[in-house]
Amino acid sequence: MTDPLTPYGNKPMVTPIVNAVNYEYKSFEVLRQITDGEIDGYTYHRDDNPTVRAVESKVAAMENAQDCIICTSGMAACSLVYLTYLSSGDNLILFHDIYGAHYKVSLMLERMGIDVTWVNADEGERLAEYVKPNTKMIFCETPSNPLCKILDIEQCARIAGEAGALLIVDNTFATPFHQLPLEHGAHMVVHSATKALGGHNDLMAGAIAGSKEDYEKLWFSRQALGTTLDAYSASLLERGLKTFEMRAERMSQNALAVARCLEKHDRITRVCYPGLESDPGHATACRQMARGFGGVLAFDVGETQDDAKRFIGNLEKIVHAVSLGATETLICIPYLTTMLYMPPERRVGFGVQENTVRLSAGIEQESVLLEDITQALQKL
Ligand SMILES: Cc1ncc(COP(=O)(O)O)c(C=O)c1O
Repeated sequence: MTDPLTPYGNKPMVTPIVNAVNYEYKSFEVLRQITDGEIDGYTYHRDDNPTVRAVESKVAAMENAQDCIICTSGMAACSLVYLTYLSSGDNLILFHDIYGAHYKVSLMLERMGIDVTWVNADEGERLAEYVKPNTKMIFCETPSNPLCKILDIEQCARIAGEAGALLIVDNTFATPFHQLPLEHGAHMVVHSATKALGGHNDLMAGAIAGSKEDYEKLWFSRQALGTTLDAYSASLLERGLKTFEMRAERMSQNALAVARCLEKHDRITRVCYPGLESDPGHATACRQMARGFGGVLAFDVGETQDDAKRFIGNLEKIVHAVSLGATETLICIPYLTTMLYMPPERRVGFGVQENTVRLSAGIEQESVLLEDITQALQKL
């Protein structure tokens, strides 16, 4: 009988959603080949799934990586990296300027005997001074969440290399359309694929791209911990990737237009976006990013949080919601949302203010966004 999925060799245009938890073994020999890693085959969903595997190969290709591990969320991906490579007694360098949930994870890592050093990304030039003999990993975001601070990936990679440590770059804000950290010396790239890779606010996923050797190590952890993505979300992610480049291009064009518009307004006291010539990260961003600077920016509205709240309340088209990288333009106050997990003094200690707003540009017409922002500022 012909294969029902590929009769006469005609392949479906979309990877089928394989919801199976388990697979019938064709023979003991095939089972052995799969479990020995000689062939890519399937036995149990927590181990591997063909829909997930298809999207892993696509994300690996986008990041110029040998392979990729997809799991249930961006934080699952980051935690998998920590748990796979760090042991009690190791030092981990984290930047204050990363997604807030890392703070919670760092408390768990400390409980497990991992020493965590926090560095302000403004001091990225002085990173070497923070390295200890037991430093095993440096984890950063560039551009960072939410202030879009830029770190020099090549410099971080050199410092990590000299210390015998791994450099992990969260590429969620930049996306592979604008930045390929592995080409600048990073050991691995992580993503919240919930964001621009998926792009439609309808799936949660995380990705880790790197070498085949790293894939094997991470696969071991994912299989043990059970953070394999479900096939339906993998299919949604595959669909998102089909339009990813177009969306990334439009999002960064919109973000730049919004940043330029805000920069001129007297009720906006600061704009953080690496695409602006005035931004401290601009020169480094020009060296390591291409085709634009990503879709996210941050800015301070007026003087108080009430000013920021009133501005957001005045918006008619831009949506007040967390997350980023979506088709719709989203706006939020990080102090009240993404950084909620941190004690108040840590939320404002490295540049975020109570009136800082984060905007993730969508793919709307530029004029729609500029008009909405202008009318909301006028009403302040
Ligand atoms: C830069 C960055 N990394 C990681 C994460 C975590 O991703 P997820 O929400 O998919 O767990 C986020 C979430 O906002 C993020 O912004």
